[in-house]
Amino acid sequence: MIISPSILAMDFNNQPLEELRINQTDCEWIHLDVMDGLFVPNKTFDESFIKKLQFKKVFDTHLMITNPLSQIDKYIPYSDYVTFHYEAEKEDAILAYLKNKKTRIGLSIKPNTKVEVLDNLLPYLDLVLVMSVEPGFGGQSFMESALDKIKYLREQKEKNGYHYLIEVDGGINQATAKLCKEAGCEVVVAGTYIFKSDNYQKQIDNLR
Ligand code: DX5
Ligand code: ZN
Repeated sequence: MIISPSILAMDFNNQPLEELRINQTDCEWIHLDVMDGLFVPNKTFDESFIKKLQFKKVFDTHLMITNPLSQIDKYIPYSDYVTFHYEAEKEDAILAYLKNKKTRIGLSIKPNTKVEVLDNLLPYLDLVLVMSVEPGFGGQSFMESALDKIKYLREQKEKNGYHYLIEVDGGINQATAKLCKEAGCEVVVAGTYIFKSDNYQKQIDNLR
């Protein structure tokens, strides 16, 4: 399992220390929640903040913003994967974008969005991010409805030879990560579970 700690839960007043603590662990990715106060009620940071981060990890940027395709170019230079929300754009526009994309792109679906809406887009995706909480805030409880979506995505991937990674985000702890792994998930995002502990490596080990 790839582990992607979400910095939404880090201590922003002690950022250099948080960067050091994460860099001392063996997690592979770092998850960056961009929120604009419109697509979700909360507002966080943009590319000017991301470009200064000192994490030596794969940058996994999760855009929770309206009209993401008009802003995505700002994030691409500072991200390894950029993921935006299916709900934030028309499907035709998403398909056209994916067919011409020049970097690793993911799509995310909120808890109330059916996974089958992604069917035509799956061949072009590098990542599918299943939200297991309503996007906007950390510290919420895992919604088990995410598990069937993960199973479906894994079946489609194997049946059709698709290459996307399956990622889950929200309410991840040792128990919910295990359920996600059994369902076929490959990447877990965890904010509270890692950053609100005093031993990041131990928590990361518990999620694998
Ligand atoms: C929620 C964010 C998540 C959040 C997860 O909108 O997308 O990445 O940080 O936080 P936890 O792990 O605390 O549920
Ligand atoms: Zn996220």
